[in-house]
Amino acid sequence: MKTPSRLFLLTGAGVSAESGVATFRGAGGLWEGHRIEEVASPEGFAANPALVQRFYNDRRRLLPTASPNPAHLAIARLQREFPGRVTLVTQNVDDLHERGGSPEVVHMHGELLKARCVFCKRVRDWSGDLDEETRCGDCGGQLRPHIVWFGEMPLALDAIFEALGACDLFAAIGTSGQVYPAAGFVEMASRHGARCLEFNLESTATSPHFDESRTGPASRTVPAWVEELLECQDAEA
Ligand code: APR
Repeated sequence: MKTPSRLFLLTGAGVSAESGVATFRGAGGLWEGHRIEEVASPEGFAANPALVQRFYNDRRRLLPTASPNPAHLAIARLQREFPGRVTLVTQNVDDLHERGGSPEVVHMHGELLKARCVFCKRVRDWSGDLDEETRCGDCGGQLRPHIVWFGEMPLALDAIFEALGACDLFAAIGTSGQVYPAAGFVEMASRHGARCLEFNLESTATSPHFDESRTGPASRTVPAWVEELLECQDAEA
């Protein structure tokens, strides 16, 4: 098998689950007691902005209580030590990859620690609460969480598609493969000739598109894989 030189890693809620951050598609399809559309759609925000701001305030406040787990640390090590290109794209809005030492992270679904003006669209760092009165310092528009909701366009898609077309190893870690466009990345990478590897606790909707699925907690399977990849590079050097 040819040694890979350009890696594309897609992570989802499963990579942060062992850090204590709740995944999305849990019991009954509820997200922390709410229907997803209620708290993760522009319509939900228009209908009840106070509820939506409170919901993300709660998630933001919980961030400091979670710590990166061995999967985050191993991914960061791979980014630092792999001699080729490593693109890390996450669907997660937490900052655990950054705190785990990842030098570059593409947050395609936004970030809890950022706020965006609904009017001028300026994005700024934000670590406190937001409410209906929180205004943009530039134009006075309302600030909302910098989160990509259902029906909105994910971020950085051009760069993502470019990296997907160029990668020779694609790995999806802790994602249920139910939300597009991320769920379609494996087919795109595979069409371009990449080997595709899945890490999950169980098989998913997209498992049939992968060349290999490694089952188990990401905190165990991902560090073992990273070790394997780096050893293989050392052996070749
Ligand atoms: N190790 C590996 N996989 C795990 C672990 C673990 N410790 N714990 C859970 N998983 C797997 C689950 O089996 C599931 O397949 O992680 C996946 C989490 O799936 P979801 O909760 O659907 O999260 P994700 O795929 O990231 O959701 C995608 O949907 O709600 C939107 O925008 C939101 O970014 C999110 C997107």
